[in-house]
Amino acid sequence: MPSETIIITGASSGLGLAFIQHYASLPTPPIIIAIDNQPFPPQIAEQYGTTIHFHQLDITSAQKVQDLASTLESAPVNLILHCAGIRGLVPEIVAQQKQGDKDVAATETLEAMDHETMMKTFEINTWGTFNIIKAFLPQLRLAAAQPSKPKVIILSSRMGSISANTAGGGYAYRASKAALNAVVKSLTIDVPDVQFLMLHPGRVETGLVEWKEEGAIGVEESVRDCMRVLDKMDEEGWESGRLVDRFGVTIPW
Ligand SMILES: NC(=O)c1ccc[n+]([C@@H]2O[C@H](COP(=O)([O-])OP(=O)(O)OC[C@H]3O[C@@H](n4cnc5c(N)ncnc54)[C@H](OP(=O)(O)O)[C@@H]3O)[C@@H](O)[C@H]2O)c1
Repeated sequence: MPSETIIITGASSGLGLAFIQHYASLPTPPIIIAIDNQPFPPQIAEQYGTTIHFHQLDITSAQKVQDLASTLESAPVNLILHCAGIRGLVPEIVAQQKQGDKDVAATETLEAMDHETMMKTFEINTWGTFNIIKAFLPQLRLAAAQPSKPKVIILSSRMGSISANTAGGGYAYRASKAALNAVVKSLTIDVPDVQFLMLHPGRVETGLVEWKEEGAIGVEESVRDCMRVLDKMDEEGWESGRLVDRFGVTIPW
């Protein structure tokens, strides 16, 4: 019998899907509530059967996320692994770069960035994250009585660090992830019975960018490293709300 319930967003692609495969392959897998706006790959659903409960919805919809949370009622949720997000690149420039140099930086420069891209990136990366966490707080709090604290892991990025920004550009993505530092800081104060972590998974080959970036690692390698960090969170003295890389090293805001 599964002893835990976890929620994984961004479930249909990249890191979210790889985390699902990791948890679903455990000897005693938890109940996995999977969320994405894209359909879930049927062959993975078939492979893991009833372990995975997939919900196709937009994480920016307060109503749809709340409706889902209401169906869980009094089921404690031990972990939210929030992987849904977008990279905030200007679509027209992405289309040009796809045919040419495949230069990601060129798609998010001072000259390229526009209102629509910036607002959409905030809507999904910042509001969507807040929306998901807020909706499932009652279920997370129900798990607070258990020996290890409930956890919320937010896949963030080194690009959300203002002090690590030495390259410029990246306006929408950097700003949307930097804003998460402020959101999560308040959550650590307002919700001390839940442990929060912002995790930079490394540069990973996923659907986030439409072509493979130089030096990108595979999802399995990233998930393996990220899981080691998650395991450390129950250690004495681990501080809620940190931004760390996949080796657990703090990235200053
Ligand atoms: N890959 C990297 O190198 C890297 C580095 C640092 C941080 N991260 C972070 O890691 C997280 C996971 O990204 P990934 O690399 O696994 O990218 P990915 O393969 O694109 O997966 C993200 C998933 O989230 C979904 N999604 C986007 N907006 C959504 C919405 N409004 N509602 C529901 N689902 C939505 C995406 O669907 P669509 O296809 O429709 O967008 C996609 O299925 C992101 O937060 C990203 O910022 C990734």
